[in-house]
Amino acid sequence: MKKVFRCGAVVLLAVAAAMVVVYKSVNRLPSSDLPENEQVWQIFDDGGCLSCHSADPKLPFYAELPVAGKIVMKDIDSGYRAYDMTKFMEELKVDGEVSPVDLAKIEKVVLDDRMPMPKYYLVHWGSSLTEAKRNVVLDWIRSKRIAMYDDGLPESRAAEPVRPIDAEIEFDVEKADLGFRLFHDTRLSVDNTVSCASCHDLSTAGVDNHQYSHGVDDQLGGVNAPTVFNAVYNFVQFWDGRAATLAAQAAGPPLNPVEMASPSFESIIEKLEADKKFAKDFEAVYPDGITEANLTDAIEHFERTLITPGSRFDKWLYGDDAAVSPEELEGYELFKKYDCATCHAGQNLGGLSYELMGLRKHYFADRGLELTVEDNGRFKETKLERDRHRFKVPGLRNVEHTWPYYHDGTRETLEEAIRDMGIYQSGVELTQAEVDKITSFLKTLTGEYNGKPVTTTNSRDEIHGHDHH
Ligand code: HEC
Ligand code: HEC
Ligand code: HEC
Repeated sequence: MKKVFRCGAVVLLAVAAAMVVVYKSVNRLPSSDLPENEQVWQIFDDGGCLSCHSADPKLPFYAELPVAGKIVMKDIDSGYRAYDMTKFMEELKVDGEVSPVDLAKIEKVVLDDRMPMPKYYLVHWGSSLTEAKRNVVLDWIRSKRIAMYDDGLPESRAAEPVRPIDAEIEFDVEKADLGFRLFHDTRLSVDNTVSCASCHDLSTAGVDNHQYSHGVDDQLGGVNAPTVFNAVYNFVQFWDGRAATLAAQAAGPPLNPVEMASPSFESIIEKLEADKKFAKDFEAVYPDGITEANLTDAIEHFERTLITPGSRFDKWLYGDDAAVSPEELEGYELFKKYDCATCHAGQNLGGLSYELMGLRKHYFADRGLELTVEDNGRFKETKLERDRHRFKVPGLRNVEHTWPYYHDGTRETLEEAIRDMGIYQSGVELTQAEVDKITSFLKTLTGEYNGKPVTTTNSRDEIHGHDHH
């Protein structure tokens, strides 16, 4: 008995020793002679990340087995549902342009040691990320981020996933001036009653504070109006990303039947040309005169000026420790801890990726209301099933004043919006104290436009009354 036992122990020891050797030889660091990006690429390739995070995974042999296969396929499905890593890996290989959201997401799972999933590296020797590998990845992310922004943050803040708004941004002053006039010009609408500012008033935080906007003839739209402030930082425009640029976006509302309802750009141009003073001013800047392309270009130049620097949080990022309170700072730490900053990253804390609404829990089932066309999000444009309910992540600058929240405008207070993000996107039930801290952090993101704090002159009570007429 004793002998058998000892014999078994020896075999076990031998197997364990062999495993250590195998593990060591497979789980080696990539050669430090390789450029940093190639080392990081190698680490993720060894880690099998693309097996679960691409549309076309290389399946391991046991994916064919009845029981193991089911578990593997489930991980692959939910991995790809949560995150598509293909584009990032392509860019990484050639040291190209990567998204700040990719950096934030990967940094977070590496910091938390969440990926690859433990059960995966139990099977795939060499796929786990050792301390040394994690350090290579984290160092690379840090230096990539610093190079990407070049915003001169002090050493202690230089690696933050949230970045300050630029103090200035490039635009043509004369074009922006015309754009300002057009933005406030009701002649863009069929009956001269509605301007861009009707729904994006700059004195009401660039929104209308309605669940849905009111267009010509008081027609109601079907999706909440995002703010025009800091829209220049969005990688695309609209909840579904259907406009690639601000100019392309600006071509939408004038002809949208429930917004401004003009029959054509020609009809708008006719009206504007009849205004001799306006036409003269316009031609002084655009020699080829009033055209759709020139009108939307002018509006884009104006919208580039709609940035809101000077928030307390940006002051903190630049090194002013006293600019935010300890509670607000705790809120920021929670914002990072609960993955918020992986989707709400960068200068506008969002606007850089499409994300699934209801990643951790089915949002639309819980909401109860009938599904609308708008609820499809990015799917409307691509018709890819994967894109259903994916939305461009809204930015969170000045968010205390841009109520109500979500694409469907169903969350009236910031507290509700935050608590439900915890449930549906991060998979946590935030305590009231945590919600309060995150709320106070988000309020430090309110900036200035033309030297004055962004605010809204709308009152919640009045708006509420109006929506229920
Ligand atoms: C066996 C499949 C599998 C492998 C291999 C894998 N992942 Fe994941 N990954 C998942 C799943 C499943 C989720 C969704 C987790 C959840 O919903 O809790 C996920 C989520 C993520 C997310 C999104 C954040 C989140 O928690 O939802 C990132 C980023 C990520 N993985 C990165 C990586 C990286 C980097 C690697 C390689 C080092 C990797 N993954 C390897 C299955 C995998
Ligand atoms: C009747 C109200 C209304 C009018 C008028 C209006 N908008 Fe909007 N705006 C909205 C709504 C609602 C959305 C969201 C629509 C969507 O995503 O499908 C939006 C989206 C936008 C966005 C995208 C912001 C983002 O984060 O994606 C910009 C920029 C914008 N509008 C600028 C303008 C400009 C410029 C004009 C005038 C040419 C204008 N809007 C006229 C209601 C309006
Ligand atoms: C997986 C990505 C993801 C994560 C993680 C995430 N969000 Fe969001 N957030 C979104 C998307 C997408 C929306 C828009 C949802 C919609 O309109 O239906 C949104 C909307 C919001 C809004 C409303 C903004 C507006 O103008 O309507 C707030 C506030 C917000 N998130 C805060 C948070 C906080 C706080 C956390 C962490 C607890 C968090 N988010 C985590 C993707 C994410």
